[in-house]
Amino acid sequence: MLQFQNVTKVYGEGEQRVSALRGIDLEVDAGEFIAITGPSGCGKSTLLHLACGLDLPTSGTVNVNGRKTLEMSDDNLTIMRRHEIGLVFQSFNLIPTLTALENIVLPSTLEGRSFASLQDRGRELLKQVKLAGREDHYPDQLSGGEAQRVAIARSLIMEPTILLADEPTGNLDSESGQSIMDLLMEFGNQEIVTSNGPVKRTTLIVTHDEGIANRARRRIRLKDGKIL
Ligand SMILES: Nc1ncnc2c1ncn2[C@@H]1O[C@H](COP(=O)(O)OP(=O)(O)OP(=O)(O)O)[C@@H](O)[C@H]1O
Ligand SMILES: [Mg+2]
Repeated sequence: MLQFQNVTKVYGEGEQRVSALRGIDLEVDAGEFIAITGPSGCGKSTLLHLACGLDLPTSGTVNVNGRKTLEMSDDNLTIMRRHEIGLVFQSFNLIPTLTALENIVLPSTLEGRSFASLQDRGRELLKQVKLAGREDHYPDQLSGGEAQRVAIARSLIMEPTILLADEPTGNLDSESGQSIMDLLMEFGNQEIVTSNGPVKRTTLIVTHDEGIANRARRRIRLKDGKIL
């Protein structure tokens, strides 16, 4: 599903040079639920960026659903991200001028699909994240935990096989954080029907919170760009 082979990532040059990842080997099977922890600056977000092709390795290979990101065109990387990967961020990244339902559905209309064809699924997802009736609410009318639920629904609309969450509970109090984790665990290993048959979704979450990390089935600890 996701393979890192001797992956390094260097940002900048000369005095600005930072080795964010230094030789990562990682094999993630379909259906895994993994928490990634480690001190600030150890390379956690970089690892997620490489896993979705938002960034490419400096050396080594990252293989996503059977393709090496380094060998893919920018267009194909974008298509892969839209169809195969769901992304959830610490700061929710909702568009303030769109309603909850529009935030969930509109990004996927970039594919040429109509709003109408996606909105039933958007409503169903809102129900599943326990926000039925909030379709027409704007982000500033939602609590942080509710905004993150909308972001999770948005990440799931294209039925991604991979879900990546970078500090999804980082801006929330511990109670809302736990309920966001409940949702991620509920959706994180769902079975999805793809053109190659059914597969279990794979989820990686970055967190600073030991209580959250302990709920994952597998843990990866990073330090100074390496897996401990
Ligand atoms: N686009 C970039 N340009 C230059 N340096 C970068 C870039 N992105 C990350 N870095 C550097 O790479 C290192 C790893 O950064 P990364 O964001 O992956 O850390 P992190 O583990 O996610 O930290 P945090 O817990 O604070 O989010 C850091 O030293 C950071 O400054
Ligand atoms: Mg980070």
